[in-house]
Amino acid sequence: MLVVANWKMNPLSVEEAKQLFSTISQKEEVVICPPCPFLYLGKNFVLGGQNCSNKKEGSLTGEVSAFMLNSIGCKYVIVGHSERRVIMKETDDIINIKALMAIDAKLTPIICVGEINKSNKGEEIERQLKIALNGINKDVVVAYEPIFAIGTGNPCSIDVANERRELIKNILKEKGLEKSLVLYGGSVNSENVSFYTKQAGFDGVLVGKASLDANEFNKIIENALCSRKS
Ligand code: PGA
Repeated sequence: MLVVANWKMNPLSVEEAKQLFSTISQKEEVVICPPCPFLYLGKNFVLGGQNCSNKKEGSLTGEVSAFMLNSIGCKYVIVGHSERRVIMKETDDIINIKALMAIDAKLTPIICVGEINKSNKGEEIERQLKIALNGINKDVVVAYEPIFAIGTGNPCSIDVANERRELIKNILKEKGLEKSLVLYGGSVNSENVSFYTKQAGFDGVLVGKASLDANEFNKIIENALCSRKS
């Protein structure tokens, strides 16, 4: 079970980041992905980057290498988040290179896939995932994050999420990566988390907005870990 916090470009001050770190339950199943300037504050947590460059090093102003993330103790890095696909125009091929770069740097990539359109029957995530996994022969983490559910308060229905989880598991199996964890992300909160971790059988969740509220996030952690035991 993995509960991943994606703080995105929040909070705005070091004081707030310290406060968050000091109130979030620290557990081996909890991964915090804060903005890069705050990574050093979370030394006691399992940490992840929110993105990495598709190049190892060099003249790339503003970019962060997966190797740098590893050298400061990160274990994971998110690649292919829909905000990067849509706003930063990252293509499937770039995301594949980033995932390979992460593995090269001894990080586990958290590869996000998700359809833009609710009526899409899974072809889009199939394409995204197959390309992202090109050349990968180590287990990864895949997060199913339908774009219509991200930050909207409208999570994906359990049935659709379950179908997509099965599709993702099958693709991972074809590639010999069946031990990879599959997470759900998109408007997760303390009340709906166990629908995904228990009913729909996901191996954990990727949490955006609700991870910025330590009380709410701690309840998410508790409910997710509890659904694994029951
Ligand atoms: P949300 O974001 O929980 O705010 O919907 C999830 C994500 O973007 O990873």
